[in-house]
Amino acid sequence: MKTAIVYVSMHHKNTKKLVDAIAEQYDVTVIDGVRDHDFNLAEFDRIGFASGIAFGRFYPQMLKIMNDKLPEGKDVFFLYTYGVKAGMYCNAARKIAEAKKSKGPRRVRMPGLRHLRAYETDRRHFKGPP
Ligand SMILES: Cc1cc2nc3c(=O)[nH]c(=O)nc-3n(C[C@H](O)[C@H](O)[C@H](O)COP(=O)(O)O)c2cc1C
Repeated sequence: MKTAIVYVSMHHKNTKKLVDAIAEQYDVTVIDGVRDHDFNLAEFDRIGFASGIAFGRFYPQMLKIMNDKLPEGKDVFFLYTYGVKAGMYCNAARKIAEAKKSKGPRRVRMPGLRHLRAYETDRRHFKGPP
């Protein structure tokens, strides 16, 4: 089964660190959702979407990637890092996955991890992607 993880990590690269650690242990193709534009998810069986959280949902760049690039019927999973323990941050992403008739989204089987409270600073200094 071919697996890809698309990530959008802009604030502290927290999500990228998580994805890099996964890629060291698992056979996955990692796609930078901000810098890589010309990628095709059709060739993958299972697709992970990894994002930081902004204003209660996945980054808008990630939601756009899901809308534009996720083919129908794929096996999908989510990873996310966030600053404050709160509600269901993957609801908007889940809705897109459901509209695309994805299998899942499902819990990722690795040390119980699928989202992570991450290093955080005063977000008023956030200036967007480099
Ligand atoms: C503009 C902005 C909005 C954010 N909104 C939330 C939020 O609603 N809830 C939360 O828990 N964390 C929020 N955060 C914190 C980030 O989700 C957290 O730092 C995350 O790990 C960033 O991931 P990244 O470094 O991969 O971009 C926000 C951060 C920024 C910069």
